Amino acid sequence: MVPPIWIEHTTSPLPRKDLFVHSKLIIEKSDGLFGNIDIDGSKNAALPILVSSILCCGTLSLKNVPDLLDVHNIVNLLQELNIKVNKNEKSFQLDATNISSFTSSYELASKLRASVLVLGPLLARFGKAKVPLPGGCSLGMRPVDLHIKSLSQMGAKIFMEHGYIVGEVPSERLIGTDITFEIVSVGATQNALMAATLAKGHTKIINAAKEPEIVDLCHCLRKAGAKIVGDGTSVIEIEGVEKLHSAEHTIIPDRIEAASYAIATLATNGSIILNNITPNVFGTFKDYLEKAGAKLTFFDEKNSVEIRSTKNINSIDVKTAPYPDFPTDIQAPWMVLMCLAVGKSIIEETIFENRFTHVPELTKMGANIKVLSNHEALVHGISKFTSAQVKATDLRAGFALIIAALVADGISEISHTYHIDRGYVDVVGKLTKLGVNITKKGAI
Ligand code: UD1
Repeated sequence: MVPPIWIEHTTSPLPRKDLFVHSKLIIEKSDGLFGNIDIDGSKNAALPILVSSILCCGTLSLKNVPDLLDVHNIVNLLQELNIKVNKNEKSFQLDATNISSFTSSYELASKLRASVLVLGPLLARFGKAKVPLPGGCSLGMRPVDLHIKSLSQMGAKIFMEHGYIVGEVPSERLIGTDITFEIVSVGATQNALMAATLAKGHTKIINAAKEPEIVDLCHCLRKAGAKIVGDGTSVIEIEGVEKLHSAEHTIIPDRIEAASYAIATLATNGSIILNNITPNVFGTFKDYLEKAGAKLTFFDEKNSVEIRSTKNINSIDVKTAPYPDFPTDIQAPWMVLMCLAVGKSIIEETIFENRFTHVPELTKMGANIKVLSNHEALVHGISKFTSAQVKATDLRAGFALIIAALVADGISEISHTYHIDRGYVDVVGKLTKLGVNITKKGAI
């Protein structure tokens, strides 16, 4: 019998005060992005894969790990558990042989939602875990009930104590079972499947998330000895093993970073080359780019893609939904593009309930957007943006404001840039390379 647990949580990340107060991006209007940049490893693949080191008796060697605030925070959290971490640029070695703590600190966990992912691996390997309710972007209620329910179904006893999720496994190991998610959740799928790799017997995850980041996690876990099939489909099956061992893995390119720069190119009427990508990096998002007016040329042998804007931007209605549909993480940058399109478009957000916080900021820059409900906005095309002082309200909203600043007359200032640092590697360096006049003030 699964205990009825429903935990709702709205905590925002706790930024360092100096970053919060001082750090600003100063951006001049661009005549178009031109040049080429490298796309870094995927944040959303790297975070769970770094966490999966908890499961391994040995060293997990990772390449192409992006240098991001969220990655630093999750690595610090793993070090608190006494995982040894060696880092050389984008390569990490994580050795979880001597884990001696099963509790993550409130301070680190409150900075990123992915901190909840340690719950499943700790319970699976050590039978105990104490994890604070997670933080992350404030996108409305972001419950973790599905994570807890699935681990409880595998035999863990989980309860809340002083703001912590506390779990223990009364039997020797977690026990494989059928888990049906009522809604598709990337994080809950990752937590359940990581736990299932060391559970006794067979686990079947039904209505699993199909994101490429989940497939990448499964690739990595298989290299460490896990028995998983079905990743990339809505049914993932795992046959538990007693131990996972050392493995080496290279993180996939960040499709959201690639899409963000592609949109910026289209918005500024530019032409850029993105390196270090895979041919299918955009998935079905490629069709949206092309319909909006982009010309994409893939050079598969060089792992690069050229993105060129060809004509006026076309307005296209979009509705966010789990992979392979339109990614919620691209909704805010896409909205800026639609502001620059001819005509009107509707943007529907079906994943998160509070993901239009960029609208008031874009309005300061001249956007004409009507929020019809928590889930729907009507965007009217405008001829141009005007510069303003605005605030990054979350990670992707931050990049959306960068795009607006690139096309706004004058010089814009974006504050609260720690959000952007959570998910975009060296945004100043990359945009400078693409010809933008951009500086960061007050950064460390
Ligand atoms: C991940 C991504 C994030 C992306 C999101 C949706 C990472 C580190 N983050 O976040 O960038 O925007 O997927 O593609 O990979 N939900 C519940 N109960 C739960 C868990 C989730 O109701 O226990 C709900 C959420 O509130 C949301 C929906 O499920 O409405 C999808 O969230 P989920 O896929 O879990 O997002 P994350 O894994 O947090």
